[in-house]
Amino acid sequence: MSEEEKCDCSRRRLLAATAATGGAVTVAAAVPFVASLTPSERAKAAGAPVVADIGKLAPGEMMTVEWRGKPVWIIRRDKTMLDSLKKTESLVADPKSDKDQQPAYARNATRSIKPEIMVMVGICTHLGCSPSSKFTQGAESGVSPDWAGGFLCPCHGSTFDLAGRVYQGKPAPTNLEVPPHKYLSDALILIGEDTKGA
Ligand code: FES
Repeated sequence: MSEEEKCDCSRRRLLAATAATGGAVTVAAAVPFVASLTPSERAKAAGAPVVADIGKLAPGEMMTVEWRGKPVWIIRRDKTMLDSLKKTESLVADPKSDKDQQPAYARNATRSIKPEIMVMVGICTHLGCSPSSKFTQGAESGVSPDWAGGFLCPCHGSTFDLAGRVYQGKPAPTNLEVPPHKYLSDALILIGEDTKGA
């Protein structure tokens, strides 16, 4: 059986786009069959930016929007979540985001424009499965007794912290991708375009 078959990546990606996880709020539906798309939907599927409304996203919650056929997670990190990033710094493979997995404005300790708002592509950088959210800390998470909160990829066990930084010694080679994005207002984020028009 191939690695792709083992992890059933396509199915997981679809699930990520359609299902809420761990108290998440799902905003976007799965991409319909291409032939049934309106012209604006076709443009979106081809790569047009999408607007995410985070106005109702409460601290500790995650929502998913779809951009270029990929799930993009937006998390409003609360204080506990932000504090967890200091704990994981010595445990992750690329704590300073040296690898080119994010725009320059997200190359910082929180990998984000605003510390509390994390925007990242929810696709594992190993073979493309969609990791599951594991926001509960400690043994209750089912990950490990000292788990600080983050994501677990069920396919081959890669783990990521709440900034999408991959833990050391895992199959995933890099942190999760941060897409280009910018704020249109406090509540609206444009995904797929930043101030440089990327
Ligand atoms: S796809 Fe292999 S660990 Fe995520």
